[in-house]
Amino acid sequence: MQLTDRPEWQDLRNHFETVKNLHLRDLFATDPERGSVYAISVTDVYLDYSKNRITADTLPKLMTLARACNLEPARDAMFRGDKINTTENRAVLHTALRSSSSDPLIVDGQDIRPAIKAELEKMTSFATAVRDGTWLGYSGKPLKNIINIGIGGSDLGPVMVTEALKAYSQHDIHLGFVSNIDANNFVEATRGLDPAETLFIIASKTFSTDETMTNAQTARDWLLATANDEAVIAKHFVALSTQTDKVTAFGIDPANMFSFWDWVGGRYSLTSAIGLSIMIAIGPDNFKELLAGFETMDEHFRTAPLEENMPVIMALLGVWYSNFFGAETEAILPYDQYLHRFPAYFQQGNMESNGKSVTKAGAAVNYSTGPIVWGEPGTNGQHAFYQLIHQGTHLIPADFIGTIKPINKLGEHHRKLTANLLAQTKALAFGKTANELTAEGVAPELVSHKTFRGNHPTNTLLLSSLTPRSLGQLIALYEHKIFVQGIIWDINSFDQWGVELGKVLATDIYQQLASSQAEGGDSSTTNLLRQFLD
Ligand code: F6P
Repeated sequence: MQLTDRPEWQDLRNHFETVKNLHLRDLFATDPERGSVYAISVTDVYLDYSKNRITADTLPKLMTLARACNLEPARDAMFRGDKINTTENRAVLHTALRSSSSDPLIVDGQDIRPAIKAELEKMTSFATAVRDGTWLGYSGKPLKNIINIGIGGSDLGPVMVTEALKAYSQHDIHLGFVSNIDANNFVEATRGLDPAETLFIIASKTFSTDETMTNAQTARDWLLATANDEAVIAKHFVALSTQTDKVTAFGIDPANMFSFWDWVGGRYSLTSAIGLSIMIAIGPDNFKELLAGFETMDEHFRTAPLEENMPVIMALLGVWYSNFFGAETEAILPYDQYLHRFPAYFQQGNMESNGKSVTKAGAAVNYSTGPIVWGEPGTNGQHAFYQLIHQGTHLIPADFIGTIKPINKLGEHHRKLTANLLAQTKALAFGKTANELTAEGVAPELVSHKTFRGNHPTNTLLLSSLTPRSLGQLIALYEHKIFVQGIIWDINSFDQWGVELGKVLATDIYQQLASSQAEGGDSSTTNLLRQFLD
């Protein structure tokens, strides 16, 4: 049955008609306890969802829809290792990477737990050797520059987490990232580095992504230009991949390869071998703390009743705005500079997962699916794009993420940062009326310009402090939110066919450029090719 034909959907449509004109000002006025009633915490993460445009009836109706969409069996199927990524015939088991359970978990007739454990141990020995300077480069010097070459999920997770946990990092290690096929990225990331002290981590699930392979080849040439001996590759290159043959063909010794498996999606891979750069930066103990944080949220998601389930609540609120209010975007606004790449990470997580327009059975949907996800850290965003959120014409639900205890206690910074976070969610919810402005003596011709209509929904997420453990919980929260929404929308959140066409066309166009031909197949591409070739 098409989602929009479900009686639960129709019920929500009717309910929306009764809620759409209610203002958060009135919802708070009629329920003085609202701020604490609509709140939930899971270990280190506190969620206040009171500033959402919901009544006491809304979430129960959304929960009924979720049950009708078989959310609970779907969740069990994912954790059990069923091949829920049907278009690629794969299980989806990133949760197994951070599970401390030793109960067998069978994929294709094999218990996957021992291999996960062995790989983690291999990563631990290697990361320890790099950190303590016993892994030496070709000239006998320790490797203090670590460059991760990867793109998409093989880049964004390590970048985001190493930035988030910078305070936990070993500071004499320089970490760099090369993702873009643009040479500028490679040149700037390696500028001034001594090849004799540089380790390249080639991170690619498929080991065939053109950007990564091109950068890896350039890295090889860059190293050999100084070292002049193929044998040095073994000391300066490691690979993170599922493809042993391709890694070997590139010239990397399989002994220097850290494996993961086809049941780990690229955008869900930072707790697999893809996290090697993270482990080198923060150390194996902190990496295990990160995994433990993930596991806490995984277990909460797996076992908590839907009504008390944080990822489920956040997901259903997202459905409420996307599908009933017609919101097209969602902002993630971290009030912690260390989390500055968190929105970018979940831009891929969300948009590659749920940017789909056919159901699992291949039928076109007649409702909105994944929203456009974006964001920047507060308070920078306040001086850039918040104007539009406050007074523009779009409805933009936003998540505000703060930390209660700061990492760097410096003067009044943290109190002021927190004051800004709370002030913004208050202003967005309650606004400022024309009457209030007039009473304050604002000139009549300016009243409409200075009015804030308010009623902008926000979630406030507070971490007790930013630690590997709390970060793991926060990431898993958003991962499971994406999963829940995919189930409601009946789409496959774990494939990404939409990236393929551009790759194929780029290969053709590259051939044209390389052979100085300008046959673009359409007049615009042909003309643009001429601009380059002339
Ligand atoms: O953009 C498509 C994609 O397949 C992503 O899903 C993935 O994270 C990225 O490319 C990199 O893929 P790989 O790790 O195979 O190089």
